Amino acid sequence: MGSLFGQSKKTIPQVEQLLDKMTLEEKIGQLNLLTPGGGIATGAVVSKNVESKIKAGQVGGLFGVAGPEKVRLAQEIAVNHTRLKIPLLIGSDVIHGYKTTYPIPLGLSSSWDMDLIEEAARMAATEATADGIMWNFSPMVDVTRDPRWGRIAEGAGEDPYLGAAIAQSMVKGYQGQDLSAPNTMLACVKHMALYGASEAGRDYHSVDMSKIKMFNQYLPPYKAAVDAGVASVMTSFNDIDGVPASGNKWLLTTLLRRQWGFDGFVVSDYTSVNEMVDHGLGNLQDVSKLALKAGLDMDMVGEGFLTTLQKSVEEGKITEAEITQACQRVLEAKYKAGLFDDPYRYLDSKRPEKEILTAENRALARKLATRSFVLLKNHYEILPLQKEAKIALIGPLADSRNNMLGTWAPTGNPDLAVTILEGFKNVAPYASIQYAKGANISDNADFAKKVNVFGPRIQVDERSPESMLKEALDIANNADVVVAVLGEATEMSGEAASRTDISIPKSQKKLINALVATGKPVAIILMSGRPLTISEELEMPVALLQVWHPGIEAGNAIADVVFGDYNPSGKLTATWPRNVGQIPIYHSSKITGRPAPEKFEKFTSNYLDVPNTPLFPFGFGLSYTAFEYSDLKLSKKEIAQGESIEVSVTIKNTGNFHGEEVVQLYLKDLVRSITPPNRQLKGFKKVFLKKGEQKTVTLTLVPNDLKFYNSTSEFVAEPGEFEVYLGTDSNCTLKKCFTLK
Ligand code: BGC
Repeated sequence: MGSLFGQSKKTIPQVEQLLDKMTLEEKIGQLNLLTPGGGIATGAVVSKNVESKIKAGQVGGLFGVAGPEKVRLAQEIAVNHTRLKIPLLIGSDVIHGYKTTYPIPLGLSSSWDMDLIEEAARMAATEATADGIMWNFSPMVDVTRDPRWGRIAEGAGEDPYLGAAIAQSMVKGYQGQDLSAPNTMLACVKHMALYGASEAGRDYHSVDMSKIKMFNQYLPPYKAAVDAGVASVMTSFNDIDGVPASGNKWLLTTLLRRQWGFDGFVVSDYTSVNEMVDHGLGNLQDVSKLALKAGLDMDMVGEGFLTTLQKSVEEGKITEAEITQACQRVLEAKYKAGLFDDPYRYLDSKRPEKEILTAENRALARKLATRSFVLLKNHYEILPLQKEAKIALIGPLADSRNNMLGTWAPTGNPDLAVTILEGFKNVAPYASIQYAKGANISDNADFAKKVNVFGPRIQVDERSPESMLKEALDIANNADVVVAVLGEATEMSGEAASRTDISIPKSQKKLINALVATGKPVAIILMSGRPLTISEELEMPVALLQVWHPGIEAGNAIADVVFGDYNPSGKLTATWPRNVGQIPIYHSSKITGRPAPEKFEKFTSNYLDVPNTPLFPFGFGLSYTAFEYSDLKLSKKEIAQGESIEVSVTIKNTGNFHGEEVVQLYLKDLVRSITPPNRQLKGFKKVFLKKGEQKTVTLTLVPNDLKFYNSTSEFVAEPGEFEVYLGTDSNCTLKKCFTLK
């Protein structure tokens, strides 16, 4: 049987033969993805009567089941009790590590280290497959320019070029060379598409966007994952041009399959088919039909496919061939995962102990965390600290095991995380360290209740705020230096965790003000799942190290950087606004017809109350050392269409520490048929330089880097002048020009 859409796709004989034997009911059963619950729920409902449904041939896959024994039980039911013995696909959200949790994706993206990101994904795949899982609901590649949106924590930030590179590294890491190998897993790029542009930063909200913006700014990371051979795609909750993604035929068939050539399978998000009823597109039968016809293959949890498709066939609303098509794609995925050769290939009961949470994996998680931290300020060079210092370690996140893993770590165990207090003691055993909580993460009990859905993240202390503060000030006054660990609890970001005020909660602001008032040097370790508005804290004479939520090795990794064993090299992948009123704010925005000069001028594009510039630009991050850039050169002054151009620069470590730097290349297209963005990231390289060392770094601009989608959605490069900027962040000033003929 060939493809309905006329692609010249190779068919798999084993799958074809199986399809020939299947009844309509059995085919529909394969399109049903369920979760029996038991672990941490990742959505509002869990599936019922899962075992009897598997026996009845009504289930194609499961998620939320893990461990060789448990998965074997489920797999045996499918293999021994159903007529055609079709094994189940076992999925999971392995978002930033399986049990060896590493930094949240926004943190990991700040490493700008593609090899390391691939290694991280590889490790996650090894651990997850050792536990019986062969399908991962990752990478999440939703570009976002709105830090109010809690799920910014789960992605790679605001930039499509960096996002695309990370998407590819993750797909490679998860899928490896051979999908049927017992330690690789099928990746699932999500959430297709534009989910990161939810209106007002509110989760699950509507999206309305021009095709020009979508193609140039939001779609590239999904496409990059498809180009890297991602095995599956998950739809998003939002609508696109008025049609929710799960029922959007333009998105799932015209774009994804026909234009991009995707030949894997598409799964809905959690009940997103059913949610089209609430979106206002008809009853469950209507929306299930819409989804299937749009090109959706598997229905996650909602059972709309299971309960209505047969009726729709009988009523002539859909054809059996359309169901066969979806079923074929699901079966092909099972075939690729090697499940038809051996349904138990991922179920070696000796693997978990040998391969999960190993010392090697924990060492990698520690390394990944150190690479994700971003030094935002280092007043008086407070950091790094001496390992013998007398330290007052203060703050509600300083000894808070529950808040180290970060959001979307349903497979991790917070009890295994290293707190910052423990990390300091491990790395600096001769330091004198005194600890005080100092404040609650938030004093607001209602807010705490909403954050604590998966367990106690914000624990409002029995003591009064005044007595906690007093205890903190007593130890601060007695120390050489204060380290204050502040910010967001784990579930203050993530799914359904949007905030309209993204500053540090009031209770902690009081604490930091009082600590700074002691006159002691203060280093703030800032933990969050998103950019925060920290204008006031930035004014203070402090050091500021952004550590996101670092994962299982949090405390050790933070201590590595605080005490100088690793010199921070992370760079922001999302712009930090001065206040929420600036949102959306991102480095590649348009220039407008009335660009604002540095000093306020009436009738230019500006604000009365704050400058247009952000608090921290995209790509920003300091180091304990200093890097000097010089001698920017282009290999040509003029190029023809289809030619590449080399850009080289000299970089010198002029400070007192060895260090890594992310060399960034930005391109500005001066004239084109549609308004160009200010600058666009088009290259980067992470380099290590010993103190005093100098290197020449060369980056290549390839023909695609000059192209954009024009108003008729063609991907073109238009002749004219281009400016190339190279340096340490998106505000860099070294510049050269070339012409495209
Ligand atoms: C999320 C997805 C996730 C799914 C399954 C949904 O709520 O949006 O990202 O993969 O649940 O856990």
